[in-house]
Amino acid sequence: MSSERVSLVPAAGGRALSAPLMGHEPEPTLFDLSMTGRRSASFRTSDLPEWGPEELVPPELLAESPVALPEVSERDLVGHFTRLSHRQYSVDLGAYPLGSCTMKYNPKVCDEAAAARHFAAVHPAAPPSCTQGWLEVLVELEEMLCEITGMAAATLQPAAGAAGELTGLLLMRRYHEAAGEERHRVIIPDSAHGTNPASVTLGGYEVTTVGTNERGGVDLEALRAVLDTDVAGIMLTNPNTLGLFEEEIVEIAAAVHQVGGLLYYDGANLNAILGVVRPGDMGFDIVHLNLHKTFATPHGGGGPGAGPVAVSERLAELLPGPRPVRLADGTFSWERPSRSIGRLHSWHGNALVLLRAWTYLRLHGADGLREVAEIAVLNANWLKERLRGSYDIAYDRTVMHECVVSAKSLADETGLRALDVAKRLLELGFHAPTVYFPLIVKEALMIEPTETESPQTLAALGQALELIAREARQEGDASSARAAPRTTPVRRVDEARAARHLVATYDQRR
Ligand SMILES: Cc1ncc(COP(=O)(O)O)c(C=O)c1O
Repeated sequence: MSSERVSLVPAAGGRALSAPLMGHEPEPTLFDLSMTGRRSASFRTSDLPEWGPEELVPPELLAESPVALPEVSERDLVGHFTRLSHRQYSVDLGAYPLGSCTMKYNPKVCDEAAAARHFAAVHPAAPPSCTQGWLEVLVELEEMLCEITGMAAATLQPAAGAAGELTGLLLMRRYHEAAGEERHRVIIPDSAHGTNPASVTLGGYEVTTVGTNERGGVDLEALRAVLDTDVAGIMLTNPNTLGLFEEEIVEIAAAVHQVGGLLYYDGANLNAILGVVRPGDMGFDIVHLNLHKTFATPHGGGGPGAGPVAVSERLAELLPGPRPVRLADGTFSWERPSRSIGRLHSWHGNALVLLRAWTYLRLHGADGLREVAEIAVLNANWLKERLRGSYDIAYDRTVMHECVVSAKSLADETGLRALDVAKRLLELGFHAPTVYFPLIVKEALMIEPTETESPQTLAALGQALELIAREARQEGDASSARAAPRTTPVRRVDEARAARHLVATYDQRR
């Protein structure tokens, strides 16, 4: 055999090969692949006059020197992104039990609708007379979301859950200001998702935290103790981030309303209650929905999302505008609510995410949506029971769409922590669950199986999690999990380094 070695790493000027799909070499950046003068496809001849930027842009706005961009051929560009995509774990590849994120398989017909030229190619500035179909979709989506949440009106503008939260807090502020009241505090439970306190601060309020009782719900007495007329409202998700339904939600709503506060529903966990119970009927005034969790767009990955906000009648005229409306003659147009807080997104929000959600809702119908929630809840409870004995059950109650188990005993007995379990699971073929959240559970593993996984997949996931605990406890082998993942393209990374030593430009990295 020849001793000559072929480099398996793509380098400047390309090298179209499948490594680093194999081994652990990092994929080079486009700058690493760059070679001066390389170009993608370009038209050889054109009879169109050529325009330079100086003919279009005023001189004071022109850059003085060209921006340093990577120069790569189309072939190498496609190779680069294809190699990266092959290194990803995705919802289309396998189970993705990442709690509080609802990463579920989404029917491809929703993508097909969103790719249809008749929708995708429409310019957002086209007049309503040319966009009646689009407007009908948006109005119908709003109506369906109001029906699901038990609310009176909605805005489709916010681009994600956190943007919906900010919208909700601005609505809260405007509502109290209109009543001539200055309130300063918003209450959130200690189990809340991190975006809740961040949005409260961004909305100009102070956070007051309330604790969790022994059943995993809001401590009602602690809540009553911090309620007064300085409280603008409370933000809750129900089921909460422990996957538990707030048993005292009616009492909580009554107590907050009694001091003139509003109830904000973080709808990130709506997958659990679709078609079964409505936030409006629980007493909530403002609801955001994460369309990119529940309704056919995968959450995360940096892609566009949508976090529509639905409100009760008394807040409808404050919503962002313009809103799509159905006119008395059955046609559609745009209207700005009379006391609108203003725009939250350019144009009509992330319209193709909205179209995916509309398609998903039409696909399932009311019965189908209820079934989604029922199976999601059944799956989470099945998995929780399967894991009993291998892991601690954080709050031993019937859960909703996700269950929080803990590796605390496992860590005490074997030294194996939640992070090790998550990393070893990657080697066994599954995406890891959320770890160390919610913060109030030590060594938390937050598992959301969703309704889209089969009983066979769930059994395999349960078996993999059991195996990890057994390897450490009975076989005395904690080193496997501590060294994991050994089979993935990227092995264990330093979790905090990127945040502590942020390098946001390519040049500085050199
Ligand atoms: C409970 C909860 N609230 C809010 C959010 C924020 O949603 P987004 O990531 O779309 O901003 C999330 C996100 O996962 C969540 O799990």
